[in-house]
Amino acid sequence: MPSDEEQRVVLFNTAAEKMFGCAASEAMGAAIERFIPPRFRSEHRAHIRRYGQSGVTNRSMGTLGALRALRTNGAEFPIEASISQVEADGSKFFTVIIRDISERRRAEESVRESEERFRLVANTAPVMIWMSGTDKLCNYFNQPWLDFTGRSIEAELGNGWAEGVHAEDLNRCLDTYTQAFDRRESFKMQYRLRRHDGEYRWLLDIGVPRFSKDGSFDGYIGCCMDVTDSKVAEEALASMGRKLIEAHEDERTWIGRELHDDIIQRLALLAIELERRTQRLPDSAGQGRDQIYQLVPRLADITRDIQALSHRLHSSKLEYLGIVAAAESFCKELSEQQKVVIEFSHSGIPRTVPKEISLCLFRVLQEAAQNAIKHSGARQFKVELRGGPEEIQLTVSDWGVGFDEQDTIKHQGIGLVSMTERLQLVNGQLSIISKPGHGTTINARVHFNPQQDRLSAAG
Ligand SMILES: Nc1ncnc2c1ncn2[C@@H]1O[C@H](COP(=O)(O)OP(=O)(O)O)[C@@H](O)[C@H]1O
Ligand SMILES: [Mg+2]
Repeated sequence: MPSDEEQRVVLFNTAAEKMFGCAASEAMGAAIERFIPPRFRSEHRAHIRRYGQSGVTNRSMGTLGALRALRTNGAEFPIEASISQVEADGSKFFTVIIRDISERRRAEESVRESEERFRLVANTAPVMIWMSGTDKLCNYFNQPWLDFTGRSIEAELGNGWAEGVHAEDLNRCLDTYTQAFDRRESFKMQYRLRRHDGEYRWLLDIGVPRFSKDGSFDGYIGCCMDVTDSKVAEEALASMGRKLIEAHEDERTWIGRELHDDIIQRLALLAIELERRTQRLPDSAGQGRDQIYQLVPRLADITRDIQALSHRLHSSKLEYLGIVAAAESFCKELSEQQKVVIEFSHSGIPRTVPKEISLCLFRVLQEAAQNAIKHSGARQFKVELRGGPEEIQLTVSDWGVGFDEQDTIKHQGIGLVSMTERLQLVNGQLSIISKPGHGTTINARVHFNPQQDRLSAAG
């Protein structure tokens, strides 16, 4: 907006018309002061006078953002301005370049407001919140975090927070964070953090990457909850589960032994006795003798069934010959009894497998095979035992009707649950691959390192 020495407008462009809500025809020749709020006018006048005398050709006006202008409708707005002066034909002309910064101000204001709101929400939320930047270093902790650790924000910033993490958890914790960070993936981890009173508490920390509107990566935000109480309850439950399974196994062992060592022996003796006595009956007994004679094979059938039952309850083969022999013999007995084909194979299973692992795998095999027979509709199954350098895997597959795991959760069958729980007790995992119409594969994996376990057993 150029003006003459008397501070009258000599040119008024369309941008200026729009900005001030004033037609050029009306502005031309008018005092420039009409675009300045009254309370700034005298200051402005003095300023221009000093500037005119200074001889400086170009400079910005006022401190940034402190300048205000006036629209024709009386509304004030923030501006940024710079002024320059030229002399032509002995008279001075000033040109002021004005930029309306209301929009920018509004944006800054709304950022400030939203930051304030975020801080208010973050500090009143009942969880601990942290944020980190693109350099992995933490640049924010909310009040609940600071209240928990009892430390100052300065102490926690950067990597300071790591000082409060339990020494046994720190490396795992940093690994999880770094790996997730490098892949920009969310993560979930549990670690112990020192509370203000010195007690270490278990935290569940969930972190997710932050992206700005244009999609660029900004760092991470995470929230933590104190899960010590539920962790203690979980451990108590797990130990309860272990005790239940152990009690169950003891009971099975006892009944299995009782059947095998006592009932089966007595039945066998009874069969012999019956046969002997029948033979001794006089020929005159005739038909009656034949009828009693026919009871002998029926007694043998019952004995065989009880024997199979005793093996199911307690496999002495498992105890004395190991998982491979026990699994093979179980598959053979089951296929004969149920008239199905079970293809058994094994490789790389070490000679000695800890009792709890072999018993767990044996029970999973029993349940999975019984399920395949009972539910799949198929008559042919595959059982595989594979040992690797670090683990043992058991796979039971059928090509039957399959099922949807989600549906069975509602039915609450005890078989799948008990397989999962048994495996958890030996730090193993159960995975089920099944789809209606596409058969089922049950895979049980247990971590087992023969070398390491032998060393630790010896040491
Ligand atoms: N091999 C399989 N083929 C088809 N369905 C299966 C198979 N294994 C399990 N299921 C389904 O999963 C359910 C839960 O199994 P489980 O927990 O062992 O309970 P249960 O055998 O007592 O029904 C079964 O009722 C069945 O619907
Ligand atoms: Mg079952």
